[in-house]
Amino acid sequence: MKWRPVGFLCLEFVTFVCSQVARRLSLIKHPKCSMISGGQAIEILARDGDRLKFLFKPPMGAQYDCNFSFAGLRNQVTMSIQKKEEEEGVEQGTLLSCVNDIAAATQHTVASHIAKRTHRAILFCKAKDLLPSCNPTLVVSGGVASNQYIRKILKIVTDTTGLHLLCPPSKFCTDNGVMIAWNGVERLREGKGILSHTEEVNYEPKAPLGVNITAEVKEAAIKLPPLKLRVTD
Ligand SMILES: *[C@@H]1O[C@H](CO)[C@@H](O)[C@H](O)[C@H]1NC(C)=O
Ligand SMILES: *[C@@H]1O[C@H](CO)[C@@H](O)[C@H](O)[C@H]1NC(C)=O
Repeated sequence: MKWRPVGFLCLEFVTFVCSQVARRLSLIKHPKCSMISGGQAIEILARDGDRLKFLFKPPMGAQYDCNFSFAGLRNQVTMSIQKKEEEEGVEQGTLLSCVNDIAAATQHTVASHIAKRTHRAILFCKAKDLLPSCNPTLVVSGGVASNQYIRKILKIVTDTTGLHLLCPPSKFCTDNGVMIAWNGVERLREGKGILSHTEEVNYEPKAPLGVNITAEVKEAAIKLPPLKLRVTD
C-alpha cells in the first residue's frame, strides 16, 4: 500500500440514527421493508418520497467545525411523526401514509450533514496542505457507503473540490473484522500498542491513530462556500 490516509470519519452513527427512525416509523410492518435493515428501509422508501414535505433543520449549521450530531434531527423527526399520528388519528406503531416523505427528508438531512462536514474537512486539509498532490481521494466505506444517496451527495462534494471518490463495492464494506485488522496493521507500522504477551491485553472502546486535530479544525472555523446538494437520479 503506497498511500496513507489523512483522516478517518466513522459513519456508524448514521446506521444508528436511520434504524432509530425506521423503528419509530414501524417500517418492519411495511411490505417492502420487513426483511431488511432500518437503514436500507429508509433508502428504499426515500426513493418514492418527497423530501420537501418535511423540512428538517440541518444540524449544527452555526458551528464551523467537523463535529457531527444527530440528536436534534432525531427529535425533529420524532416530533413530526407524532404530529402526523395525531393528524391521522392513529396510534404509535401504525404505519403512516407519509413514511416515504419522512424517509426522504431524513435521508437528505443526514446526507447533507455528512456532506457539509466532509466538505469542511477537505477544505481544511487543502488549506493545511495535507492532501497528496497526486490523485487525492475520498474513500467511503462501511455499511453506510452502500447508501447510494449518500454516495451521490458526497460525489457533489468531491467533484467541487477536485477529489476522487472511491466507494468499494458494498460486499467489501460491511466486515468490521477487516477494519479492526487494518487498524492493527496501521498501529503495528506506527509501533504503537504492540504487546508481547496476551496477558497485557486491555480492552478499550477507542483505538486512536495519529494526531487529534479536532481543536485545530475548530479554530480554523472554515465557512463553506454555497454548494447545491441536489441529487438527481
Ligand atoms: C466537538 O467534538 C469535540 C470532541 O468530541 C468536543 O470536544 C467539542 O466540544 C465539540 N464541539 C462542539 C462545538 O460541539
Ligand atoms: C480530540 O480532542 C478533542 C478536544 O480538542 C476532545 O474533545 C476529543 O475527545 C479528542 N478525541 C480523541 C479521540 O481523543
